[in-house]
Amino acid sequence: SHVYLSRQLTPPATAAARDLGLPLVMHDDPDTPPSRERLLRDVAGAAALITLLTDRVDAELLDAAGPGLRIVANCAVGFDNVDLAAASARGVVVTNTPGVLDEATADLAFALVLATARRLVEADRFVRGGREWIWGPQSFVGLDVSGGATLGIVGLGRIGMAVARRAAAFGMRILATGSRATGEEARRYGVAAADLPRLLAESDVVSLHCPLTPDTHHLIGAAELAAMKPTAILVNTARGPVVDEAALVTALETGVIAAAGLDVYEDEPRLHPGLRALDNTVLLPHIGSAGRATRDAMGLLAVDNVRAVLAGEPPRTPVPRR
Ligand code: GLV
Ligand code: GLV
Repeated sequence: SHVYLSRQLTPPATAAARDLGLPLVMHDDPDTPPSRERLLRDVAGAAALITLLTDRVDAELLDAAGPGLRIVANCAVGFDNVDLAAASARGVVVTNTPGVLDEATADLAFALVLATARRLVEADRFVRGGREWIWGPQSFVGLDVSGGATLGIVGLGRIGMAVARRAAAFGMRILATGSRATGEEARRYGVAAADLPRLLAESDVVSLHCPLTPDTHHLIGAAELAAMKPTAILVNTARGPVVDEAALVTALETGVIAAAGLDVYEDEPRLHPGLRALDNTVLLPHIGSAGRATRDAMGLLAVDNVRAVLAGEPPRTPVPRR
């Protein structure tokens, strides 16, 4: 019986995983995930799996681990890569890493808001292009974020609330969907609850913070994009399949919306054809939680969930039941 870790975590988290009291089997290449064959082989007999969002945890993988498996500790707040029904049918606990990455992810979402609104990457490419340039009143004009632009937060949970706090400090008007949009904390940041149609129609920036579930798959498609202002910006730091990426590329090509800032993609790490060629996009490689302390905290929380379950204690952060 062993603990299986599908990728090297940051040094403190990897050290903690070595300290769990069971042998640690770790995929040795820090930069690429194990092949499926390798994964299925290396989990055989494991008591615990520490997995990443790049690992598909399904019935086949759980069966490959075998009946001794007690916990899958997914090192991510999202857990759409895990088949929860298959895990629960086998008595396997599933945990995620909520809470510890809210600020880092909200920072990145807000970075995308500013980068798309003020055309940072396009302007940087222009300067690096080396052509002569001179300051001009109409050059690189973009959206004023401060002082009145409306931010629509789709799925006001922990991360969305952290984004709302930033937006409030920028003097933005804030609309949000989700059950917490009517709560005390939302009120403190001036958030107004709105349904999705109103949020799409009134927002200058729409930022997605909902989990990927069957209900949110393609939540933003051609019709929703068409309902947005032609000057509006879409920011996605949640999960790629929440957006119909083909429809998004068409909308960006044809001026249905103005710009998009994306950290996630529908078929990661592949991008829909056409996306790369667009100037009005800022494209990041899924780095929302990539702060040093944040990545330590995620890894340590995943390891602590394993420690708890192997010790017969309740897991610290079991995935929420829907
Ligand atoms: C990252 O995408 C996460 O779910 O933690
Ligand atoms: C811009 O650089 C200004 O001085 O207005």
